[in-house]
Amino acid sequence: MNTTIYYFSGAGNSLMVAKDLSEQLKDSKIVQISKKNMSVINDTQSDKIGFVFPVYNFGIPVMVKNFIENLKMSKDTYVFDIATCGGMVGSSHNQIEKILNKKGIKLAASFTVFMPGCDQLLFETASEEEQNKLFKDEKEQIYTIASAIKDNQHIKNKANPIMSSVYNLLYAATFKPKAMGKNFWTDEKCIGCGICSKVCPANNIVIQAGKPKWAQQCESCLACMQWCPQKSIQYKKSTVKRGRYHHPDIEVNELIQND
Ligand SMILES: Cc1cc2nc3c(=O)[nH]c(=O)nc-3n(C[C@H](O)[C@H](O)[C@H](O)COP(=O)(O)O)c2cc1C
Repeated sequence: MNTTIYYFSGAGNSLMVAKDLSEQLKDSKIVQISKKNMSVINDTQSDKIGFVFPVYNFGIPVMVKNFIENLKMSKDTYVFDIATCGGMVGSSHNQIEKILNKKGIKLAASFTVFMPGCDQLLFETASEEEQNKLFKDEKEQIYTIASAIKDNQHIKNKANPIMSSVYNLLYAATFKPKAMGKNFWTDEKCIGCGICSKVCPANNIVIQAGKPKWAQQCESCLACMQWCPQKSIQYKKSTVKRGRYHHPDIEVNELIQND
């Protein structure tokens, strides 16, 4: 039984989950969802397919939605999703199920894994103690998730229809990633190293005259901000006094897409 796990990740949490799960499932591979591989459109070979992604504003990243919409899968494939989030999964599983149902495919199982939040636009970074507790819980949970997937279990973790509608409204009203690019700026610590541009899964950052410039295709993952070695990337004024976060066991190179 071979499994393909497609993941989208900014700060590395979802990549960590994808890697840990792949290790447990054995005959499996992980594939990044990014601008450079949106052309993966046919996966009728995998017996099982999983999508691992962060929750943004109670819903799913736009690129994950587009990727799944484009992906050709067999109707009898066992499909699961894993949402990583800081505490509120919202209607993420409902949104994934809706996309799949439109393609005539069933969502067999959905799981939520709590990880350190990385939304410094609104919140402070979790303390090291909180992070370590979440990392420990994640390892244990992946073990349980892997055995559920191996056993072809059907597990529903959806929000009820009323709450799902509320979350969908909040998502539609607050999640405007494409408009975010114009609000990023760099302070005097920027050395123009270009790492922000390399880790951006949306290919939305170019280095011009030694400084990053954001276009209009932001996905809101904040990878640029989290992985900046100088911690020089800011969003409006909200991030100036806040810490940064990326998963400590993920290397920056793992998020850089190859041409
Ligand atoms: C713009 C933004 C919005 C977010 N919205 C939510 C949310 O609605 N609910 C939640 O629990 N976590 C939210 N988070 C936290 C992420 O879902 C969480 O940290 C996730 O594990 C990050 O995954 P990654 O490291 O793979 O990018 C948000 C993070 C960002 C950057």
